[in-house]
This record gives sequence, structure tokens and C-alpha cells, in this order.
Amino acid sequence: MLGAGLEVSAVGFGCMGLTHSYGASTPHDDAIKVIRHAYERGVTLFDTAVVYEDNEVLVGEALAPFRSEVVIATKFGLTQPAAGEPQMEDSRPEAIRASVESSLKFLRTDYIDLLYQHRVDPNVPIEDVAGTVKDLIAEGKVKHFGLSEPGLNTIRRAHAELPLAAIESEYSMWWREPEEQLLPLLDELGIGFVPFAPLGRGFLTGNITADTKFEAGDVRSIVPRFSSDALKTNVKLVDLLKTIAESKGLSVPQLALAWLLDQKPWIVPIPGTTKAHRINENILASEVEFTDDDRQQLADALAAVEVQGHRYPPGSLRARAGREAAEKK
Ligand SMILES: NC(=O)c1ccc[n+]([C@@H]2O[C@H](COP(=O)([O-])OP(=O)(O)OC[C@H]3O[C@@H](n4cnc5c(N)ncnc54)[C@H](OP(=O)(O)O)[C@@H]3O)[C@@H](O)[C@H]2O)c1
Repeated sequence: MLGAGLEVSAVGFGCMGLTHSYGASTPHDDAIKVIRHAYERGVTLFDTAVVYEDNEVLVGEALAPFRSEVVIATKFGLTQPAAGEPQMEDSRPEAIRASVESSLKFLRTDYIDLLYQHRVDPNVPIEDVAGTVKDLIAEGKVKHFGLSEPGLNTIRRAHAELPLAAIESEYSMWWREPEEQLLPLLDELGIGFVPFAPLGRGFLTGNITADTKFEAGDVRSIVPRFSSDALKTNVKLVDLLKTIAESKGLSVPQLALAWLLDQKPWIVPIPGTTKAHRINENILASEVEFTDDDRQQLADALAAVEVQGHRYPPGSLRARAGREAAEKK
């Protein structure tokens, strides 16, 4: 259960990688099958965004036959740049409205279950953003409001205007910053949390080594923590996790997702995959139960390796820059 009474499956599905971020898109018919497979296996939360290229069109087509049974989350607030130009934040009211109209068309629906601001816009007060979403809710075009990678003050201010159902930010065994201040705040305010990249963009699977080469167009080819130097240290974490996973009869991705689910009852991870059989594997994480000894063993493993490298490429620190700029307003 997320916030504002929004009920979803224990594990959701991140659709981004089918068209964006990890090199070539999955062929259309295969991608449709993967999304429908997730639905058939009981997944009800599907995550997409305007800026994931043709992702909304794909998600809309795949889920059209089951529209009323699923929760579709999409996002506004980032521009689709022309080739070679940087993405920019844009949450002006007219931009939000235009984005929502386009999402409704691409998603083949007349309402969006969960609408996130993709990144905080330092030029638009969050109260104005919440006010625009409130109007869209009154018009029946949107059901619930969320923010992605916001700062703490932004969350408080937004939530005071319009109750937030969810925050979507990066959180996993190798990016644990949300534990410091974000999780306590969400607990206090009763807001759900949707960790993105819960498998560390594929790192927390055991399939990536210091020798792994990422193809051009795969964002990991420019992310510092995936550089071969950083990976030489970082893979030590996965080695420790492999041992623990094997001792419990789990795979590393199952362990990584089960660990997230174990943190709070209102956490709903959205792992992405281009392969149907991995959906079966990933959703089984919701059946894992840890003992206190397991928790201690995992905490020791996580404390034993200091992860190397930033999670975003140099010059693309928008997650943090956006937060800090917005907090000052
Ligand atoms: N709000 C934001 O700013 C933001 C940012 C990033 C992502 N997201 C959302 O979060 C979702 C999830 O993040 P993500 O897809 O970037 O990263 P992720 O879920 O952490 O990892 C995805 C990667 O893990 C691999 N994988 C998944 N399950 C596996 C398994 N059981 N065994 C082995 N490998 C496995 C996938 O490879 P295969 O395809 O080969 O299985 C893929 O390369 C996205 O789809 C998107 O919806 C949001």
C-alpha cells in the first residue's frame, strides 16, 4: 500500500528499460509480451514517463485490455531534448497540462493513476505544481500525485497542498542515502516510497563484473560507479551478497528486492527487465522472510564495502542540483 490509499502489488514493474537507457529497444512485440506477462503474474503497478522515448505508447498498448485493473504511473516535468541538447526541468502549469494531455493520448486512457513530477523545477514553486495537479484531479484526468527525487522541504510543502501518494527516488543496497532523512519523513507523513533502480541498474544481479563493457547508448557506459576501476571494488559487495543469497536459496536480485521490501511496509520497488522469466524471479522476493540474524548478516555485508563512484555521470547531477535549488525557494 502506498500513501493516499493507493493500493498496488508488492513489487511493481519499471518499463523504462524496454525503450530507454540500456541501449537498443526491445522489439515491439517482445516488449508487449513482457509487460503483459507482468500483469498476468499479478503485477499491478507499471512505471513509465514522457521522456522514455516511445515507452508510454508501448505501455498504453500492452495494458489497454486490462486498463481498469492496473495502476499506471507516468511523469511530467522534463523536456524531451533534441539530439545533443540537455534535458531541462519544466513544470510551468501549461507545460504540465500539455504533458498530461499527451500522456493520456499515448497511454490510450482517460486518466492517469499516479502522476509524478519527474524532477523538481527550481523556477516553479511546488505549491503551483501541486495546484495544477489538484485541478487535473478535479477534472478526473489524474488520480494521485507523486514526486521523483525531491528534497525534504519540497515534500512537506507539496504534501501540505495536495496529499502525496508516493515519492519515487533511487534506493537500493548500493544507494542508501534515503535512509538518512527521506524514509523517516515519509513515515511521519504517511507517504509511500517507490525505489527506482532497485537492482542498481543491473549491478545487484551478479551479472556485472569489472570486465563488463556497456554498449554506446547504455547509460552505464558513462556512470562513474560502473567504470571498471569502481567496479573492481564494487563487485566485492555482490560477491558477499551472492554467498548470503545462496545460503537462503535465493538469487542476488531476489535478495536485493527482498531487502528493500523488508525496510518498510509502504515500499514498492519497480525492477525493470526485458525478459519475462526474470519477472517470475523478481516477484518471488515478496515471499521472502528475514530473521534478525539474516538482517544482521546483510547489514554487515553492506557495511563491509564502501561503494565507489557517483550514481550519475559528471555534469548530470540534476537530481541533487534540482533538489538543492528548489529547497532554497
Ligand atoms: N524517476 C526516475 O528518475 C527514474 C530513474 C531511473 C529509473 N526509473 C524507473 O525505475 C525502473 C527500474 O529501474 P532500472 O530499470 O533503471 O534499473 P533496475 O531495475 O535496478 O535494473 C534493471 C536491470 O537489471 C536487469 N535485471 C532485472 N532483473 C534481473 C534478474 N532477475 N536477473 C538478472 N538481471 C536482472 C535488467 O536486465 P535485463 O533486461 O537483461 O533483464 C536491467 O538491465 C525503470 O524501469 C524506470 O521505470 C525511474
